Amino acid sequence: MSFPKTRMRRLRRNGTLRRMARETRLSCDDFILPLFVVEGHGVREPVASMPGVHRFSVDSLVEEAKQVGDLGIPAVILFGVPDDKDARGSGADAVDGIAQRAVEALKAAQPDLCVITDVCLCEYTDHGHCGIVEGGDVSNDPSLVRLAASAVSHARAGADIVAPSDMMDGRVDAIRTALDAEGFEDVAILSYAAKFASAYYGPFRDAAGSTPQFGDRRSYQMDPPNRREALREMRLDVEEGADAIMVKPALPYLDLVADARANFDVPIAAYQVSGEFAMIKAAAERGWIDGERSMDEALVGIKRAGADWILTYAAKEAAARIG
Ligand code: PBG
Ligand code: ZN
Repeated sequence: MSFPKTRMRRLRRNGTLRRMARETRLSCDDFILPLFVVEGHGVREPVASMPGVHRFSVDSLVEEAKQVGDLGIPAVILFGVPDDKDARGSGADAVDGIAQRAVEALKAAQPDLCVITDVCLCEYTDHGHCGIVEGGDVSNDPSLVRLAASAVSHARAGADIVAPSDMMDGRVDAIRTALDAEGFEDVAILSYAAKFASAYYGPFRDAAGSTPQFGDRRSYQMDPPNRREALREMRLDVEEGADAIMVKPALPYLDLVADARANFDVPIAAYQVSGEFAMIKAAAERGWIDGERSMDEALVGIKRAGADWILTYAAKEAAARIG
């Protein structure tokens, strides 16, 4: 049946009908809020390129997390930003490291909030790369040892989920094996499975102080044009034992979010990264777009594509709008 008997506009005529015909709805349960934690006391320092985003000291982080929980957001993902860095990223697995202390404080204050930790070396290395550098490039297998040690230290501090974002080969297996050997078989792994060498990470690198001091990340992060390769990455991580897999960034890679949903039964996460967030905020500040509507449209698009979990700096504002 086609026009004039079929009229698609019949179910768009008013708000009630549109509500009834709606296929996808954002929920507070969808969101994971990224949080940056720095040294110090009483720190709540704005990130210039990310309006509304701050870097918190551990005590302020606990206060912020209280609000996050009250808004109905189930989870946060923590990024440690240490003062001291060295070649091997010693801070990444330090017992009293910044991320470890933050996890302990959060779990003590709010046991029901799911605490995910980003597992990578770039915030902790003086060269800013995500692994151990040997001969001018990131060396895969020595990096695995450090990443596994970091994941175990986060688990020991109380993390519920560890999220490796380094893109080394074999890291999920290395981390799963190390966690199990230390008695952390209940700690889950969310792998950044299809993570691209993206220009959209710019504001994050300012916030985390993790810009590479030489070269770039293209020898380990994925090449943006590659879709089949992303499926291989996801399959490998699931086979190695990932409990959930992520596509990152989100909006320019929604085809992969849909692919992930169609091909795997684990929860699919998508990361609306710093640049995606900053673009919307910047255009809204200039009055060029409606910031709230364009943010919600991006988030519902990510969900419609197939994401179960959405990592977004807009989690608090979006949750407040959902109510
Ligand atoms: C570190 C890491 C990055 C992001 C998350 N974890 C930066 C990078 O890979 O350079 C980016 C997040 C964002 O841009 O919001 N491995
Ligand atoms: Zn990294």
